[in-house]
Amino acid sequence: MDSNDMRNAKDIKLIESALEGFLPDGGCLEKNLVDAMRYSLMAGGKRIRPRLALEFSRINGGADGEIMPAACALEMIHTYSLIHDDLPCMDDDDMRRGRPSNHKQFGEATALLAGDALLTLAFKTIFSGMNAQNAVRRAKCAEILAEYSGARGMIGGQIIDLESEGRKPELERLEIMDKKKTGCLIKAGCLMGCIGAGVCDGKKLDAAESYGECIGLAFQIVDDILDVTSTTDELGKPVGSDETQKKATYVSLLGTDKCRELVSEMTERALSCLDVFDGDREPLRELALSLAMRSK
Ligand code: IPE
Ligand code: IPE
Ligand code: MG
Ligand code: MG
Ligand code: MG
Repeated sequence: MDSNDMRNAKDIKLIESALEGFLPDGGCLEKNLVDAMRYSLMAGGKRIRPRLALEFSRINGGADGEIMPAACALEMIHTYSLIHDDLPCMDDDDMRRGRPSNHKQFGEATALLAGDALLTLAFKTIFSGMNAQNAVRRAKCAEILAEYSGARGMIGGQIIDLESEGRKPELERLEIMDKKKTGCLIKAGCLMGCIGAGVCDGKKLDAAESYGECIGLAFQIVDDILDVTSTTDELGKPVGSDETQKKATYVSLLGTDKCRELVSEMTERALSCLDVFDGDREPLRELALSLAMRSK
């Protein structure tokens, strides 16, 4: 393990222990629901979005403890989006994070409710977890999370994705779709990290947003590439799903070679956004580069 891997492993541990602490107690009549929430939330995953929130807080001098509730809230929203994304009415995928999808394990109705409950738990976590003395930062983080996960953000991207199935993809539509369905939550992590650390400088906020947009788009393009080049074992989710569902993707339009070029281009662009920050830029450089080269 090199020092970057060690930093990542340490952060993932920190995030997972915080996530566990925010889950409701399962000793109640709603036990099945809480079990379903924990099943997906604690199933591993790369924890990219909360790691981005932590790193953007750190580069701006923020304390991990202060941003952690917002970072966990973001991972809850992401996990809910995955539970719903796998449902038969959406991508109809039976495996996620190396285990049966939530609806395969608990049934569709419980999976739907577990997703809903993670969504609402996210906002409770921000309001009860972040320091009340920084009420403005806390409110701003909640606003960003709501905005970027909602109809104009992640969910907006998901409806464009569903309505593009079986259609010949157009580049412009694909870009908007991917920036929304995947880029928005990634951007939210970058921005909340800055806001949580008290950044008000518009230039820095714009740079964090642009970095997030570039790595977010690259992230979805890599996801689409892996869907055709990787294995279910490696990814922990079914490969070939995009073709089965007749999804409009960058890969179906441009092929994998051109897609890899685009990923490098977007990653370079992301790295150049980091220049405005005074803190240690290395972890965010490393994160962007490792996401571009990821194999899962
Ligand atoms: C999967 O996200 C869904 C996309 C937006 C492509 P991740 O690849 O971050 O999934 P986990 O969290 O590591 O399982
Ligand atoms: C998912 O895109 C985006 C969201 C869940 C918001 P995909 O449908 O490509 O994600 P995977 O491949 O199922 O993880
Ligand atoms: Mg999908
Ligand atoms: Mg999917
Ligand atoms: Mg995919």
